[in-house]
Amino acid sequence: FVSLLPSDKVLNIAHRGASGHAPEHTLIAYDLAEKMNADYLEIDLHMTADHQLVAIHDEDVGRTTNGVGFVSDLTLAELKELDAGTWFNQAYPELANPDFIGVTIPTLAEIFELFGLDSDYYIELKDPDDEMIDAFLTVLNKYDLLEADKVIIQSFSQKALTNIHAQYDEIPLIQLLSKSKTKSANYKKIRQYAAGVGLPFQTLDKAFIEKIQGNGLHVHAFTVNETEDMERLIDWGIDGIFTNYPDRLADVLW
Ligand code: G3P
Ligand code: MG
Repeated sequence: FVSLLPSDKVLNIAHRGASGHAPEHTLIAYDLAEKMNADYLEIDLHMTADHQLVAIHDEDVGRTTNGVGFVSDLTLAELKELDAGTWFNQAYPELANPDFIGVTIPTLAEIFELFGLDSDYYIELKDPDDEMIDAFLTVLNKYDLLEADKVIIQSFSQKALTNIHAQYDEIPLIQLLSKSKTKSANYKKIRQYAAGVGLPFQTLDKAFIEKIQGNGLHVHAFTVNETEDMERLIDWGIDGIFTNYPDRLADVLW
């Protein structure tokens, strides 16, 4: 399955969509990422109280909507009443756009309805349990995305990734590691179920990237927004970069 990960180029992964330019995890941010030639749309998923999969980073809606509460305590209908764009205009007045006002939290199905097989998806399961994994795989299959090689699945949860690998060993899986885990992780063990790892870029240097790659793993770095950091990582042989500015990375890679 490592072969299913493109290895002829540095992957341009639009972190929460083009989230430096538009409210994260909205259809507008994903559309902008496509227009900026990102290779992948990074989508963070949570499951609602009524078992729907929605694109939002935090477990709580407070930072990116006008609502309150945990995604897992709210139904899709309740989430759909929330404004997931106006916060961006308030936080970044210089980037404010009336088109952002009133945009809603998208479901995974809505994203696939809009972008379908034209896009590639790098999907993170946040705090996944077996029920969420099953719901997720069901939606992927409904939109024929699995056999189309259009999806990379990522998670901090080793349990979730090994569960998925036991069912589908052809999907490229990325084990995400937090800063405190990057040095102690067992990369040989990770290679048994994953095609690569995603690490905070601040933990990386050339030797460490090469050490991990020596275990047959791709190395993807998050979240890189400054051109000089992008250039340094590319020089060190990074395989993919998560960025809020896919336009900036596309310019560096050109
Ligand atoms: O999924 C890669 C990166 O996004 C992990 O960090 O917190 O932005 O989801 P986070
Ligand atoms: Mg993520």
